[in-house]
Amino acid sequence: MSIDRRNFLGMSAAAAATPLLSACSAYDKVPVDAVPRSAFDDESTAVQVTEGIDLKGKIAVVTGCTSGIGFETMRVLALRGAYVIGTSRSLERAEEACKGVRGMTTPLQLELSDFDSVVSCAETIRSMNRPVDMLICNAGHRGGGNEQELINGVEKHFIVNHLGHFLLVNRLLDRLYYAWQGRIVVVASRAAYREAPEGGILFDDLRITRDYSDAMAYGHSKLANVLFSLELGKFLRGSRITSNALHPGLINTEIDRNVNRFLQFGFGVLAAVSGKNIEEGAATSCYVATNPLLGSTSGRFFEDCNAIDLVGDTHMQDMAMADRLWLLSEELTRDYLVRHEPADWAEFENGLPRKKDR
Ligand SMILES: NC(=O)c1ccc[n+]([C@@H]2O[C@H](COP(=O)([O-])OP(=O)(O)OC[C@H]3O[C@@H](n4cnc5c(N)ncnc54)[C@H](OP(=O)(O)O)[C@@H]3O)[C@@H](O)[C@H]2O)c1
Repeated sequence: MSIDRRNFLGMSAAAAATPLLSACSAYDKVPVDAVPRSAFDDESTAVQVTEGIDLKGKIAVVTGCTSGIGFETMRVLALRGAYVIGTSRSLERAEEACKGVRGMTTPLQLELSDFDSVVSCAETIRSMNRPVDMLICNAGHRGGGNEQELINGVEKHFIVNHLGHFLLVNRLLDRLYYAWQGRIVVVASRAAYREAPEGGILFDDLRITRDYSDAMAYGHSKLANVLFSLELGKFLRGSRITSNALHPGLINTEIDRNVNRFLQFGFGVLAAVSGKNIEEGAATSCYVATNPLLGSTSGRFFEDCNAIDLVGDTHMQDMAMADRLWLLSEELTRDYLVRHEPADWAEFENGLPRKKDR
């Protein structure tokens, strides 16, 4: 077999990029019997999984709508008739993304590492005085260069990917209660079980001072995403709101924007060989957010449009860890959280604020 120079470079870059995604799996995935199986798989697209679903009158919030999976999720939800609020760190970029989509959209600024920005974004949404049917916690940060960054003494991936969304969900929860059936969708990653620290959440070392790597910090934050959704599912039991987390697949988006060009090239090669395109990458988010069969499915983890359990040594279903993470997250965002009083149904009519208030 002869390998030309270009292929060789692609192969070695792909090999170098494997820490970005951790290539080999020691985990068996088993379908969850309690959740209806879908006919969709890793080749289904967001357009296919939402075929025939009418989202007119529904409101969706998609964080990180400017590129990759978030943009495609916003595009397809809007295509199906939903009114989509799309966020970005830059209002201009959010506006541009919204302009690139057919349907009803509103751009908003949201910097997840800045809790004032999270509160301000949530307050703007609340001021619309409408139920939120779908909250897609999609935005994500992936560092490059293995240089640890801290924000207020806490490691950056944990703040952006987990705490920012934890706070956003808290501030919007009553709007989800008002929806006919609110859905929280947390875009996590398989990094949650492949790259997170062996012992799970680093409760005593949120700065990640020991053995820091971007892969580990990213996996740590993605495990936090999964455990947050798990605990949220428990917290919301008995309500009509569901919360589920997912791995979208391996997709060549801008998630690798902070790594060097060599690794970006390798990531691109791996994604092309064994990953999904962006249309497929948004499928699981759109499926979990919209499929009528999932109205009472909560606290689950999805891959390729189906709920799975992982057999192996993971913390993905560790309720004690999820509970402890919730308490820690409350502690770290305490000054920004709101306490929700039970909904005053007299103010609502068919799930919407009475006409006089609209
Ligand atoms: N691509 C993959 O292979 C893969 C695999 C597993 C999981 N995921 C997850 O999928 C989600 C979407 O990622 P993607 O692949 O579509 O990546 P992407 O193209 O980089 O999109 C990420 C989005 O997040 C926003 N964002 C980044 N940092 C932010 C911050 N500090 N505050 C608020 N928004 C921020 C970005 O918006 P602005 O830059 O405009 O602010 C962008 O719209 C992420 O949660 C990622 O971890 C991706």
